[in-house]
This record gives sequence, C-alpha cells and structure tokens, in this order.
Amino acid sequence: MRKILLVVGGLLILISSSALATQIISLPKPVYDSSISLEKSIAHRRSERSYLESQLSQEQLSQILWAAEGITDQTYGFRSAPSAGALYPLTIYVVEKDGVFRYLPDSHKLAKLFDDDKRPSLVRASLGQVCIREAPVSLVIAANFRITQAKYGARAFRYVCMEAGHVAENIHLQAVALGLASLAIGAFWDDVIKKDLDLPENQDPLYIIPIGYVKQWPEKK
Ligand SMILES: Cc1cc2nc3c(=O)[nH]c(=O)nc-3n(C[C@H](O)[C@H](O)[C@H](O)COP(=O)(O)O)c2cc1C
Repeated sequence: MRKILLVVGGLLILISSSALATQIISLPKPVYDSSISLEKSIAHRRSERSYLESQLSQEQLSQILWAAEGITDQTYGFRSAPSAGALYPLTIYVVEKDGVFRYLPDSHKLAKLFDDDKRPSLVRASLGQVCIREAPVSLVIAANFRITQAKYGARAFRYVCMEAGHVAENIHLQAVALGLASLAIGAFWDDVIKKDLDLPENQDPLYIIPIGYVKQWPEKK
C-alpha cells in the first residue's frame, strides 16, 4: 500500500493512498430475473480471447458485480457466492478505461481508486494477454488469506481459492445471461498486479476476468 505525506494545519500526516478514495459511485439496483435460462448460460459459456470495443452499461456492470459478491440476504449479509465461515476474504476491483474501482458489496457501490487506464499494465503483467486491453471491463479478484487463516488455519488456502472459483463462475454465467462473454485469467505476475493496482499488502490477486461483447454470441460454436 502506497503511503502519502500530507501537511494539515502544520502537522505532517502519513496516510495510505486508499484513504483518499473518496469518490463513491452508486450502482443501479440488480434485477433477479432473466430471459436466458441458467441452463442456456452454462451451455453457452466459453472462454473468449477477443472482444469488441462496445462498452458495458452501468446496469450490466452492476448486475455482474452483484452476481459476483452482491448481498443476497439483508439480515445476515450473506452474499451471492458461498464463503467458508461467511468471512468473505475476497475483494473485487473493476478495471476500465476510466480508471480502477473497488466494489463495495454492502452498499452495492464503487469506490474510485485511480483515474487512469490500467488495462495496458495488466496486459504486461499477464504475459501479453491483449484481450485485457480489448475488453471494456476486467474484474480482478484479490484475496486476503489471513482473514480465513485466522479461523481455519492451514485449510484457508484451499478455501479461499475455492471461493474465488465460486465468484468467478457466477461472473461468467451472469455475463452470458447479459449477452456478454468473459475469460478466467490466472497467468500473471502477482507482484506486478499488486504494484499496478496498489493493492493492500495483505491482498493477493487470484484472477483477472475480462468481460465484453464478442462477435458470435449466442450462436453455439
Ligand atoms: C484457473 C484458471 C486459469 C486460467 N488462466 C488462463 C489464462 O491465463 N489465459 C487464458 O487464455 N485462459 C486461461 N484459462 C481458461 C482456460 O484455458 C479455459 O477455461 C479452457 O481452455 C477451457 O475452455 P472453456 O473455458 O471455453 O470451456 C484459465 C482457466 C482457469 C480455470
């Protein structure tokens, strides 16, 4: 986590750069129905590595983030994907042309972290997977293993990785149901992603998931 020195009223204050993330953006409410069945979404999900330029709407982005980690039980704060001990060690970052945002599941909002386009940096960090630059949106799933370790010790590693899989599949299937496609990317330099996105020290990136329109959906290939 990058630190920033500020002078306030003659005092020198050291704060983390994330503390400056003050721009909060409300997302449209998710919907709970679709004209495309779950079975059709499963049948049509395919890893896509070439995307059209067309942008996603805020409604589409909102829907995908809700499917990934959105609150589905207001009483206990349970989310769309299961989590060992309901500890929720994952954080989702949205990387697009206009900057980088952190998804805030409790309020279903985005917190803006950067103004610049980090997609080219992610391409370099992922050994040249250029579809990250083509896709209008990439989601980065990062994990804080310590949250789950505190309760489950050595089993935490497998639990947290399983959780990232649950979240990722929700993203893939919701994308298909919205007429979009996606890709699970696991090949990248962790330390480069951490630096590029200024992830907190205790977070590690697990997945990059580009999402966008492709030429052929919904034809069966
Ligand atoms: C953990 C994991 C990591 C992956 N990493 C990459 C990757 O870095 N680049 C890539 O193009 N595909 C990656 N894939 C996608 C697989 O290549 C793809 O799922 C597989 O070829 C089967 O194709 P399908 O997803 O269309 O069924 C990854 C998939 C998984 C589950």
